[in-house]
Amino acid sequence: MIKAVIFDLDGVIVSTDDCHYEAWKKMADEEDIYFDKTINNRLRGVSRMESLEIVLERATKEYSEEEKLQLAERKNGYYKEFITKLTPADILPGAMNTLDELRANGIKVAIGSSSKNTPVILKQIGLSDYFDAVSDGNNITNSKPDPEVFLKAADMLDIPYGECMIVEDADAGIEAGKRAGMKTVSVHGAKGADIEIEDLSKKSLIKFI
Ligand code: BG6
Ligand code: MG
Repeated sequence: MIKAVIFDLDGVIVSTDDCHYEAWKKMADEEDIYFDKTINNRLRGVSRMESLEIVLERATKEYSEEEKLQLAERKNGYYKEFITKLTPADILPGAMNTLDELRANGIKVAIGSSSKNTPVILKQIGLSDYFDAVSDGNNITNSKPDPEVFLKAADMLDIPYGECMIVEDADAGIEAGKRAGMKTVSVHGAKGADIEIEDLSKKSLIKFI
């Protein structure tokens, strides 16, 4: 019996893909590093510093650890400019109905995101006070596919891991959910999930509870 659903934020509740892409692209162009949307897709669910390592695979020079931190900070500065433009209209189709329906049926809802910008994004889309628990990049040491972010969300809710379901758009996130011992739902084609749906507007999650 599922008592809680833990949602990834980026790409499940709100689409920030373009904001991440534009910010990485700006930084990469300035550094003369090749970057495209295919590379951007590999950054889904991956932490900021791990994402930077993927971006730097195309770099022609070596960067010191100090320089890497500066690059990540620069990218995040651009990203923060873009996400201040997000509004509740950027909540993805079906997400709000899904959340409301789960809550109406007594199911707890939480966020499990690798992003340190989660609080800002939730504020921008008007959902700061909506969730029963928010576990994000600020309270974890290991990023997805490590299960830590989902385990911490379940702990905050005080619900056993086996009674939680996660919803993800990243392969790394599905793997994290499985390693957490949770039921997994994928949207937008993430691979390896127990249940695959196109997006949250296509199917009600209640039937999988
Ligand atoms: C995830 C995104 O939610 O957060 C990744 O899918 C991103 O693309 C990661 O790298 C970390 O985000 P932030 O906001 O902490 O840089
Ligand atoms: Mg995601």
